[in-house]
Amino acid sequence: MQNMHKDIETILADEATLAGICDRLAARITEDYRDSDKDLVFVIILKGSVYFATDLIRRIPLPCEMEFMKVSSYGASTTTSGFIQVHLDLKRDVHDADVIVIEDIIDSGRTLEKLSNLLADRGAHSVRFCTLLDKPERRQVKLDADYVGLNIPDAFVVGYGLDYDEKYRNLPYVGILKPAVYRK
Ligand code: PRP
Repeated sequence: MQNMHKDIETILADEATLAGICDRLAARITEDYRDSDKDLVFVIILKGSVYFATDLIRRIPLPCEMEFMKVSSYGASTTTSGFIQVHLDLKRDVHDADVIVIEDIIDSGRTLEKLSNLLADRGAHSVRFCTLLDKPERRQVKLDADYVGLNIPDAFVVGYGLDYDEKYRNLPYVGILKPAVYRK
């Protein structure tokens, strides 16, 4: 088997940078929710956000719960119409809970837009979004995350949860994949 590192063109966020991002966002979330009397529920969107979510949440010294969802959004690329398909749903009712959705990356914004509506329909007390990476120039709907680790350019990034064809998630950093890998 070949070493994956050779397929990476540039490292965008190394391990120290990722740890710093988790420290910063965890401190902000802790500050924002420390006085809340609601249940705090992290909704972790599979699969890409798993590494980020576990590193982030272990830095937050507040009682909280972890829930998982697997979703896909569909719809025409130039409109906000479309729907969300839920492949794996929450195991608990989020009615009256403070929900923080954790994503690895926001691209068009479509997934989180649909998810926002779904969680609001289920009666969450509040819904906020936390993303490791954001590609603002790719946005097709109006959506801003409440907590953003790093804004990145429109490049094909992998690692720390992000994949190409289900591989590269286990790289300990976020890097740009060499185009030769996906143009084969
Ligand atoms: C990615 C990412 C978000 C979504 C963002 O998931 O984790 O859920 O795409 O795209 P959007 O802003 O254009 O809606 P993906 O479908 O690649 O699933 P994965 O995390 O399992 O790889």
